[in-house]
This record gives sequence, C-alpha cells and structure tokens, in this order.
Amino acid sequence: MKRKRQKIVVLTSYDFTTTQLLNEAGVDVILVGDSLGMVKLGYDSTLPVTVDDIAYHTRIVVRGNKRALVVSDMPYLSYQASREDAVRHSGRMIKAGAHAVKIEGGTEMVPVVRALVAAKIPVMGHIGMTPQSVNVFGGYKVQGRAKAQEKKIMTDARALEKAGVFSIVLECVPASLGARVSRAVKVPLIGIGAGVGCDGQVLVIDDLLGLTGAPLPRFVKRYADLRRTITAAARNYASDVRAGRFPGRENSYL
Ligand code: KIV
Repeated sequence: MKRKRQKIVVLTSYDFTTTQLLNEAGVDVILVGDSLGMVKLGYDSTLPVTVDDIAYHTRIVVRGNKRALVVSDMPYLSYQASREDAVRHSGRMIKAGAHAVKIEGGTEMVPVVRALVAAKIPVMGHIGMTPQSVNVFGGYKVQGRAKAQEKKIMTDARALEKAGVFSIVLECVPASLGARVSRAVKVPLIGIGAGVGCDGQVLVIDDLLGLTGAPLPRFVKRYADLRRTITAAARNYASDVRAGRFPGRENSYL
C-alpha cells in the first residue's frame, strides 16, 4: 500500500461488535491497543495492563474479524526484561489469533525485534511519544521538537526497519518530522499525532466515537458524539420505565 501511495487505515478495537463494524467500514488494520487500560478498564495510564488482558481481548477481536490485519499491543513489562519474555508473551497473542504484535521503543528494542522475527512473529514498532514511557517523559508531551530528539527518532526508525519490523507507529511528533521519517523508511509509517505525511493513521476508537470522557489531545478528531447519544438513550429509557411507558403493548406478549 505504501508503494502504491494508498493510505493505511488503522483503528483500535477491544470487542467483537466493534470489530465487525470496523470490518464493514473497510478498516485495514485493527490494533488491540493497550489503550484498553485507559478507555475500557478505568486506569489512568497503560502501565497496569497485563498480558492476560491483551490476550483476552485479542481472542474477542479475532472472533469478530473477517478481513483486517489484527495487531496485539504488548503491554508494559511483557517484553522489556528479556527476549525470552518477549517471545513467550508475544507468542500467546499469535496463539490467540493475532497476526502480529506491536512493541514500544527504538534502538534499544532491536534485539527484541530480532528475537520475535526469528520466532516468526511479525512486529510493528512504536516510537516518538510512547505511552509506556510516560514516567520518563514526565507526561504525555510532544516529542521530537529538539534537534537531539529528532535525530533519535530518525535513528530509531531506521534501526527498527533494519531489525525487521513490518511497520512503525510514530506518535505525537511535529508533522514535518512525520513526513521525513516516512520518506526515510520503506516500511509503512502509521502516524498518530504525526501529521498527514505518514503512510497511514491510527486513532483510539473511543476517542473517534466521542466515548472518552477525559479531554482529548489535539491530534484526535471526533467523528461522533456517542457519549451524548448513549446518555440520552439511557435517560429516555429510565424516564419511560419510571412513567410506566415501557414496555408498551408492542413490547409485550399478548
Ligand atoms: O494502545 C494504543 O491504542 C496505541 C495506539 C494509539 C497507537 O498504541
């Protein structure tokens, strides 16, 4: 798709129904993101998410999927401590039905990427503002503005490509850097807050649908307001039940 200059459409999903709908919408890649922790499990970062959490949601997504590439996001501490950990935990995602895994980190992750590729596990990289490093960054901040950071991001992208990733996510960097990294690597660069010059885009589905309660980062575009729609539906139901309007004759067995 990158060679044909076709943009790659990536969205997260964590459940069966959403996955079916994303298939109907023609989404190319479904990411079982560790954003799961923040948008579905109620944590305030992705750090508490476990291998069991991602494996469980991967199985559910895979059951709903007919056409997209499914990528499981490896949670914090499932691949950093050793290559053995990385292969064993990533292998669980492949056994759960994922086609590939995603790991965060650049040059320092090269040995892990090589071990996964050697174990026949396709790997997507993730660089820039990597949420599992939130405590190192001191918050969810734009990366790559300073010259040294910019250079590191470019070096990371090239190192990951050389190590064998099939694609790279680049998060929260200036748009001009996104375009330059895309030109510097042959593998598809999927942007999230990295500008229009990337080869594809990814968003968290709850953000796109307007389900997220917390303030959204600048890079999110809301395509629906489901939080309002669902609240209104539940409120209408509650008032019908309380007023004795539901169930009506049409909802009753006569
Ligand atoms: O966890 C996630 O959803 C992600 C994407 C937003 C890139 O890592």
